[in-house]
Amino acid sequence: MVAAAVVLLLAGVAGLAAVGGAALVVMAHGWFQERGLGEERRRLLPPGDMGWPFIGNMWSFLRAFKSGRPDSFIGRFVKRYGRTGIYKGFMFGNPTILLTTPETCKQVVMDDEHFVPGWPKATRKLVGEKSFLTISREEHRRLRRLTAAPINGYEALSTYLRFIEDTVVQTLDKWAGMGEIEFLTEIRRVTFRIIMHIFLSSASDSVMEKLEKVYSDLNYGMRAMAINIPGFAYHRALKARKKLVAILQSVLDERRSQDASAAAKDMMDALISVEDDKGRKLNDEEIIDIMIMYLNAGHESSGHVTMWTTLLLEQHPEFFQKAKEEQEEIRRNMAPSHTRLTLQEVRKMQYLSKVIDETLRVVNISFVAFREATTDVKINGYIIPKGWRVQLWYRNVHMDPEVHRNHKEFNPSRWDGSVPKAGTFLPFGGGSRLCPGNELAKLEISVFLHYFLLNYRLKRLNPECPIRYLPHPRPLDNCLATIIKVPPTPA
Ligand code: HEM
Repeated sequence: MVAAAVVLLLAGVAGLAAVGGAALVVMAHGWFQERGLGEERRRLLPPGDMGWPFIGNMWSFLRAFKSGRPDSFIGRFVKRYGRTGIYKGFMFGNPTILLTTPETCKQVVMDDEHFVPGWPKATRKLVGEKSFLTISREEHRRLRRLTAAPINGYEALSTYLRFIEDTVVQTLDKWAGMGEIEFLTEIRRVTFRIIMHIFLSSASDSVMEKLEKVYSDLNYGMRAMAINIPGFAYHRALKARKKLVAILQSVLDERRSQDASAAAKDMMDALISVEDDKGRKLNDEEIIDIMIMYLNAGHESSGHVTMWTTLLLEQHPEFFQKAKEEQEEIRRNMAPSHTRLTLQEVRKMQYLSKVIDETLRVVNISFVAFREATTDVKINGYIIPKGWRVQLWYRNVHMDPEVHRNHKEFNPSRWDGSVPKAGTFLPFGGGSRLCPGNELAKLEISVFLHYFLLNYRLKRLNPECPIRYLPHPRPLDNCLATIIKVPPTPA
């Protein structure tokens, strides 16, 4: 969700610039906001530069990410202005403060008093005006409480485990007979089925298929130029959103017409029945926007991280072997009658857990998060002016050699016996906006890798395929590969 928004906005800036002069005036107005701060506040701004007129630092951002050297973008600030951990810039049409160290990111991520989400308008339109990106702090807290525990709690995860396991086993078996597949596309389908099961358990296959199809268009639009003209992907995405709303509305109407006293079965039921302390229930628009947000956030990142974990293990035979041995050991310790995984067994996958953490660190699926300052705030002696956007560069925290030694090296053992210091490992963000699907995502990836390591190998067709970094890092060919079934290791 995070990275998709970056591209949407970025493309929007470019698109608007191409479309007309009016947009340039708006952007120029943003660029001159620095001047409007007044002498005293301006002197307190962190070092940095506002880049080129109109496009600000977007050119250098784009060049870094498109040339395959994403870290050179922040690297340039550090080289020029020193390691202050806080810089000023002009990005996505707004004057922006960029935070790049554990200390500065942690300070903002934990501070709900002075910061609110600062997502681009175009993203908010696609995800929904009643999603977590826009609602009030109180409403957010209440709906987080309602939705996070049923996804991430121990009991919930135990319930979903069976569905995840069945889906993974059947899918791997199917892939092994399919020949060439786009591994990324297929694994995203798997994570989509899982999140659908949690939110709309009783949806018919036809509803599921319709949603899957429409979601591809929505996602595609999140990565496209924000131009609402027929023929453009953003236009198609807005239409996809309309279709999603219509499909979810019909499911909602059906649910509302059923026996209200029936126990809640899935998240949609839970959202229908919840009341606030004044007895107010959520209306249809609120329920649908929360569903659209969760269904989107709940499958994109997990799908990508599952692919990268598999690829990185395949690229490092010694780690592959160690991870496989751990899974074999877990199987050996299971009674013969006990064929299904339990959460206890998943919790024993300690090496695999480090492999996943290390993948999250080096791959950086959510490389930046957005906030907006609601008042002037001082950090490290510098000012973040009220109304300015703030970017939390999680990627830089993970790829900073002063934070993670040999930062470029993929090495799961770096996590041996060490709990990361606060703020140094933020793949799921933090504070009140900590990803509510973090445990679920790790469970999905672990179950997939359990069955994959025991029974399969992946052979890429284009192992040297270049990586595209926006909106999420992925091989340009979506990881064309064959999945090969292998005989079990003799006891
Ligand atoms: C490996 C997979 C995942 C990664 C790397 C990831 C990463 C993140 C990050 C970094 C944030 C915080 C953004 C911010 O600070 O503004 C976030 C928020 C969020 N994630 Fe995830 N996520 C993953 C999987 C999931 C799953 C499986 C779900 C759904 C069950 C989910 C649902 C959400 C939602 C709803 C939010 C917004 C939370 C809020 O604003 O309160 N994510 N995610």
